[in-house]
Amino acid sequence: MAVDFGLKGRVILVTGGGGGIGHAAALELARHGAAVAIVESRQDSGKAAVAAIEAAGGTACAFVADVCDEESVDAAIDGAESSLGPVYGVVTCAGLAKPAPAESMPVQDWEAVLSVNVTGTFLTTRLAARRMLPRGEGAMVLIGSTDSLGGQDGRANYAASKHAVVGLAKSLAYDWGPRGIRVNVVCPGPVDTPMLRSATAATGIVPEKLYLPRTPLGRLTRPVDQARAITYLLSDYASNVTGAVLPVDGGLSAGYLADLPVPATESERMLQS
Ligand SMILES: NC(=O)c1ccc[n+]([C@@H]2O[C@H](COP(=O)([O-])OP(=O)(O)OC[C@H]3O[C@@H](n4cnc5c(N)ncnc54)[C@H](O)[C@@H]3O)[C@@H](O)[C@H]2O)c1
Repeated sequence: MAVDFGLKGRVILVTGGGGGIGHAAALELARHGAAVAIVESRQDSGKAAVAAIEAAGGTACAFVADVCDEESVDAAIDGAESSLGPVYGVVTCAGLAKPAPAESMPVQDWEAVLSVNVTGTFLTTRLAARRMLPRGEGAMVLIGSTDSLGGQDGRANYAASKHAVVGLAKSLAYDWGPRGIRVNVVCPGPVDTPMLRSATAATGIVPEKLYLPRTPLGRLTRPVDQARAITYLLSDYASNVTGAVLPVDGGLSAGYLADLPVPATESERMLQS
């Protein structure tokens, strides 16, 4: 029997819902009966996500907005509420990575990443909360990263922004919990999406070679792994969980002696083949 997560008929807003993780989250939430409002800067990928959800028998609509632009996000939430009903949940998947060595990173790249990942998340959550708080219920999942928990070379802007997402979520959890809104963070490890491929291509890194020897579960995580964690945290199964930070990374962030290879795993077999 399918698990009833209590999401049937609830309206969930997914920013970046046309991207790798956002698309998977939107599909998974719709599979559990949620009506999904995609908020995307790219009209084509927003439409594609809606088409995929509808083809699977779900309900969705898409709105073009830039999460850094308060007016466009406000209009998108208005549109979502007119089309689907009161927003119950929010997932903030809109994100940007622009890796470069800190000493030569253009200030524009620092600001662009902070703007989308931090200010965009702040604006989306508070604009939604203004509608949700008077109704006294709801849940939000903010997307961090394993770079919310530690740093990497070339990731000064991204890791700073993703640490900030955790601070933001914990503050919002404290602020809005007494008024019925839970706020949690999912921290994906390297997920096989266009963002990962373009970020690593810029530095000549092969994600499998870099990450798998340090990943106890021996594989890159998939968008659907993130989608399932997001669905759980939005659901009634997590009704007593707020302010939590959940790594979904195959164990990558668990080891602090990260240069020691994980012995005899699927990752070694993959690298040898
Ligand atoms: N892919 C990974 O390995 C990985 C790992 C850890 C964390 N994350 C995080 O997960 C989230 C989703 O990443 P993804 O891998 O699906 O990336 P992606 O590039 O596939 O998707 C990101 C989506 O956000 C949208 N977007 C970007 N800027 C926007 C803006 N200003 N306004 C509205 N929409 C905007 C893009 O159009 C895109 O569809 C991001 O926050 C990212 O930082 C990704």
